[in-house]
Order: sequence, then C-alpha cells, then structure tokens
Amino acid sequence: MYYNTIMNKTKNTLFSNKPVTLDEKSLIMAIESSCDETACAVVRGGREVLANVVASQISIHEKYGGVIPEIAAREHLEAVNVIVEEAFKQAGVNGEDITAFSGTVGPGLVGCLLVGLNAAKSLALAYDKPFIGINHLNAHLAANFIDTDLKPPFMALLVSGGHTQIIDVKSYSEMEIIGETIDDAVGEAYDKVARLLGLPYPGGPKLDKMAQEGNPFAYKLPEGKVEGYNFSFSGLKTAALRLVKTLEQTAPIPLADVCASFQECVSSTLFRKVKKAVEERGYKQVVLAGGVAANSEIRKKIFSLKEEGYDVYAPQMKYCTDNAAMVASAAFFFNNTYDEVDVEVFSRA
Ligand code: KG4
Ligand code: ZN
Repeated sequence: MYYNTIMNKTKNTLFSNKPVTLDEKSLIMAIESSCDETACAVVRGGREVLANVVASQISIHEKYGGVIPEIAAREHLEAVNVIVEEAFKQAGVNGEDITAFSGTVGPGLVGCLLVGLNAAKSLALAYDKPFIGINHLNAHLAANFIDTDLKPPFMALLVSGGHTQIIDVKSYSEMEIIGETIDDAVGEAYDKVARLLGLPYPGGPKLDKMAQEGNPFAYKLPEGKVEGYNFSFSGLKTAALRLVKTLEQTAPIPLADVCASFQECVSSTLFRKVKKAVEERGYKQVVLAGGVAANSEIRKKIFSLKEEGYDVYAPQMKYCTDNAAMVASAAFFFNNTYDEVDVEVFSRA
C-alpha cells in the first residue's frame, strides 16, 4: 500500500516535542498564503480532501496589473481567520480532531507567508498538535497525490508563476532538480506577453483561452536555445514583442493567432525536454504541476505521452493554482519538511 512508507514516519511535535505517527486516517489542516490566494484545507490520509477553501485576491490586484505585496499581505490578514473557520465547517471537524497543522514556509512573498505560517503555528500551539512547514514547490508536486494512487519515483514538470523546473522525484525524501529556466518562468512569460497584448491580470489563463481560437502555426516564434534540460523564455518574450509591433503597423493584431503561436512554442519546448528526461532516465510516470499545469495545450501535449505507454498525472484544475489541499498532502507524504517552530519564511527557492 502507498502509505506503508509513511506509516512509520514520525514528526517532532513542536510544543511538547512528542513524535506523532501519520496514517491514512490522519487529518492535516494546512494554510497557504504565499502570493495572492488565502487558502485553508483539511485533507485525510494525504489524498482525500474534506475541505478546500480559497479566497482569491485577483479582483484587488487586477487594477494594478500585478500583485502588490504589501496589499496582498494585508488582505491575507483580513481573510485568514474566516478561511480557517470555513474550512473547519466544510470538513465538519474541530481543532481537536486535527492530527497536525501545516503552513507554507516559502518560496513566496515574505509578508504574505508570515500571515499564513503564523496562523498555522498558532493553531498548533492552541490545540497542542504538531506543526509541519512546507516548501511551496513540494506542495505543487503533492497536488498530484490528491484522489490518485501516485507514488514516487516519477519525473515532474513544475510550471508556475515563479518557477519552471524538471524534477526527478526519486522518493518521498529525495528529489533532484535536473533542469530549470535560466531567466523567466513559464507563468511569468505568459503574464508578460498577455499584458503586452492588452489582456488583464493574470494574463496566463486569458492568453490560453484566446489561443484555443487561433492558428498555432500562424507565426514561427523562436525556441530558447539552452543545453540539456534547462529552459529560456526571455528571447521568446522579446520575439513576441517584436511581432506585435510589426503587426500593429498594418492592421488590428490577429490576437488569437499570436496567442496560439506563443502557446505552441512554449508547450512544444516543455514537451520536448520532458520527453527527453523520461526517456533518458527510464521513468514510466510523468507528472505535471504548478499553476501553469492548468494550461490546455501543455496538458494536451504532456498527456499525449500516454500513447507512448507512460502513466501521466496532472492535478485537477482546482488543485493546479495555489491552494492549501496540496500543502496538506505535501505535509503527509514528503519527508523533507520544516518541523521546527522557529522556522523562518523565505522568499526564493
Ligand atoms: O502556481 P501558481 O498559482 O502561483 C505560483 O506559485 O506562481 O501559478 C500562477 C501562474 C500565473 O503566472 C498564471 O498566469 C499561470 O499560473 N496560469 C496559466 C494558466 N492558469 C494559470 N498560464 C497559462 N495558462 C493557464 N491556463
Ligand atoms: Zn504556486
């Protein structure tokens, strides 16, 4: 059974320092506040979501065209207690029923992380339960454990607003980043190009939607030339800018075709490198993770690996972008967690 490996995993309780054993009945409450979503979830046995509450700040940051960290932190502070209460209600449990409390430690916006992390630590203290600190990137990977029977080893493509990585997940405790972007993250490139095209923040999902109506082969955009499993997206972004400037001179921009061509370039680069990674390392399982895992074309291309005999996983849409269910799942499965009560938040991976 999948939980055999973690049945005996012990955690130090922070306040009484007693070890706690997690099993398939364990309830973990997690709080996530690394960027512009305040979220709280309760997950049983790492896979079964009893509550998943997400308060998005998109409408607040929309008018600025991006996340303003100070405003985001204040909004988290306003929302966090309400979100926690709602999660208890949805799950039909109280603090005594929770086996451990968990929170995101980083990477993310420091002022934002502090709010959720301290709320999680306070709950642990109040209910005399263990606290488990989680890396946001591990949480994105763990979104794939929800409602599935996935277990390592697997090859993961993690694509979010801040990160683009190919990760060799060897076990619950051993991971190797074998490739990453040398400049922009995929989500960042999407958001920047979307902004250039006049699409409102966050541009990624809107660009994706437009792209579905366009011709992906209308314009040939350049793939970043980087060795091995690494990526580069800043050249593509500049090429898209140049293309838009040229097109603007003659007629209205064929928006859908530009979006589709950009999406084709990004998705085929990601696909090519992931395929190379699974082939060269001999893996059978391929996992997609991060906010950009919601992208229609990236999902389609990665899922096409099924036809070649691979088992392919991607989180359900609601678990792709930031949420707390994935944090609770990471707290349950991964061993490389931060279990000290004095763990500090951090902004970069
Ligand atoms: O994982 P996430 O919620 O936050 C970070 O950890 O960064 O990812 C957010 C990113 C944003 O850049 C957003 O534009 C992008 O994911 N995104 C998408 C799509 N949905 C979200 N990008 C392209 N296509 C989508 N459908
Ligand atoms: Zn994220």
